Amino acid sequence: MVVSRIPPPAASLLRRPPSHRLSRFSSAAVSPSATPPPTPETFSSRRRRWETPLFLRPLTHSASRDDLKAFHSWASSLVLSAAAAASRPPHPSDPEPAHLLRELRWLLQDASTESFDPHQLFSSSSSSAAAAISPVPLRAELGELYGIWRERVEERRPLQYLVGCEHWRDMVLVVREGVLIPRPETEAVVDMVAEVAVTAAAEGEGGGPWADLGTGSGALAVGIARVLGDGKGGKVYATDVSSDAIEVAKINVQRYGLEDKVEIRQGSWFQPLGDLDGKLAGLVSNPPYIPSRHLPGLQPEVSGHEPWLALDGGEDGLDHLLHLCNGSSSALRPGGFFVFETNGDDQSEFIADFVTTKCRGCFNGVKIVPDFSGIGRFVTGFRR
Ligand SMILES: C[S@@+](CC[C@H](N)C(=O)[O-])C[C@H]1O[C@@H](n2cnc3c(N)ncnc32)[C@H](O)[C@@H]1O
Repeated sequence: MVVSRIPPPAASLLRRPPSHRLSRFSSAAVSPSATPPPTPETFSSRRRRWETPLFLRPLTHSASRDDLKAFHSWASSLVLSAAAAASRPPHPSDPEPAHLLRELRWLLQDASTESFDPHQLFSSSSSSAAAAISPVPLRAELGELYGIWRERVEERRPLQYLVGCEHWRDMVLVVREGVLIPRPETEAVVDMVAEVAVTAAAEGEGGGPWADLGTGSGALAVGIARVLGDGKGGKVYATDVSSDAIEVAKINVQRYGLEDKVEIRQGSWFQPLGDLDGKLAGLVSNPPYIPSRHLPGLQPEVSGHEPWLALDGGEDGLDHLLHLCNGSSSALRPGGFFVFETNGDDQSEFIADFVTTKCRGCFNGVKIVPDFSGIGRFVTGFRR
């Protein structure tokens, strides 16, 4: 995943949720003089972190406003000391302290109730002695929040992995290490599918099976199944070669009650879909497309924590995209629609040219569709 794929800072300001966008971070070591957390994380809470996403846990803990204020103050100073201790020149994808502080606010919101506003910690109305000691309900022990924040800042672990979820479209998806965190750019794929499905329905064409190849967390499969709904479309088949992805995609399908609409199959690209060859009404894929040599230079949150299986597109990033282009000509039925996400601009142009000229005229209406930053991110088209 090249840096250009990471949403620009402005993207992460668009709304909340989606929150927790990967943004710009430095690989700075944190000053050893940063005050140690007053409430250390216990081993059992650290383990629980890997078991249940924060937002799915009950509000069985609490902390006083004063203790939360102390946490906030420690966490903010950790951000600032990390920025000050940067041991190398800034990288374009380094984090702004302001972004990390925004993530800190999201962490506090995820850890408490929907209505909890971290700003209240500092408002004058909460500064009375009674308010200061009135407990705020929490989904985790305060010590766990200290542990999460230390890992976020010091180890550059994405907040999504630490809290176990990502806000994507109107959903909250479970994510885990070993599975790519779905990106905001990819949300547009669901809208493209919705548009094609609505047009097909208006023209009296029946729905049909769709496929999401390399489903990861299941984001696209779940999103597509929800927009196809009961009337307009058929079932969505989601494939991935990774066992971690299959496990998490199943959780997300189940969480949205889509077991009847989304079928998950493990295997490489089209291999698990042999029975659907020539029958697919559409297919989407956001495959690994980063040139291998670029992987080590990505921001530490990505190169150090996200699965390279989800990122590595081979020498020039095209290995999987070309395989998908070739396979689509036989997998799609006549009129079937495809969307591929790419690394942007040059790669999109290459793929658009490849499907137009090299696939022996089997596709038409091939287009490059820009993402919200204006980068030519997607290649779409139809099987003749
Ligand atoms: C860039 S991620 C996309 C994940 C998800 N679709 C999304 O947009 O968030 C690429 C996915 O392709 C999967 N993948 C890699 N090689 C594969 C293969 N040979 N067959 C099927 N899936 C593969 C990875 O495990 C990963 O989940």
